[in-house]
Amino acid sequence: MAIDNDGDAERFSFEAFTRHPFFTEVNRWIVERVIDPGRRKVVDLGCGPGAVTKLILEHLGDPHGARVIGIDPSESALARARAAIHSRVVEFIQGSAEWVSRLVSSADAVVFLNAIHLVGDKAQVIGEIRKALKRGGVFAFNTTFFKGAYVEGTSGFWRRWVLRAVQVLRERGIEVKHSTHATAREFLTADEYADLCVNAGFARPSVELVRIEMPPESLEDIGRFSLFIEGALPGVPLEEGAKALKEGLKRAIEETGLDTVPRNWLEGVAVAV
Ligand SMILES: C[S@@+](CC[C@H](N)C(=O)[O-])C[C@H]1O[C@@H](n2cnc3c(N)ncnc32)[C@H](O)[C@@H]1O
Repeated sequence: MAIDNDGDAERFSFEAFTRHPFFTEVNRWIVERVIDPGRRKVVDLGCGPGAVTKLILEHLGDPHGARVIGIDPSESALARARAAIHSRVVEFIQGSAEWVSRLVSSADAVVFLNAIHLVGDKAQVIGEIRKALKRGGVFAFNTTFFKGAYVEGTSGFWRRWVLRAVQVLRERGIEVKHSTHATAREFLTADEYADLCVNAGFARPSVELVRIEMPPESLEDIGRFSLFIEGALPGVPLEEGAKALKEGLKRAIEETGLDTVPRNWLEGVAVAV
């Protein structure tokens, strides 16, 4: 990815978004249910700059004998995670969900938070995660890019935000290529996620929704994240995309009069059988 090469990595990092309290809330929901002293070998898949890794460490209690393995394809995200977390039980490895079982085996838990929507072949990836776990191990995931993420009455806002960003780009002479499909755009239902887990060798997972309120500053922050820009405005250079999303957000908020925007997170925990 181009952003791994220079200072862009910092400007377009996920880190600013992770500082919003609701983001800790949706991740804590999973971590509290999955991390306990009995689960010693934990994989933080798609760890990014390490916000979830930190939560896992907090919940491990006595870290003696524990191992936490953060895995992410992005070297720049891993560099930020390594700089932020200094613990002898944590290691960060470059890798991808598509071949996680070649990197880890017999894990007690694999958490894959805010990232599962980014993978193209979800069935293959969930199969890989099953292979990386021991029997009785848990796979936990969450995402806010699924069918059901939009709280009633808000879909107009989300559509308007992107439309206004596209309008801003047009005003600046930049066209958005509608033909480019980003994998981040494929929204599954909760049932589809549950079916994929069952097919991969898990007991049918409990899948629940957590509703949070997103303040405008958090939307501005996600609008500066490289993968969000690529998903919302395929093919647009990051710098231009970020500026357009910021201006588009301002217009969408003015037009809809929304103060904060509610949104659902899907939270799933599946046990390997
Ligand atoms: C939105 S961030 C989430 C980071 C972290 N899990 C959190 O919740 O704070 C998504 C992360 O998924 C990673 N990612 C993208 N595709 C992936 C894949 N195929 N396998 C593993 N991680 C992936 C990205 O590099 C990025 O760091």
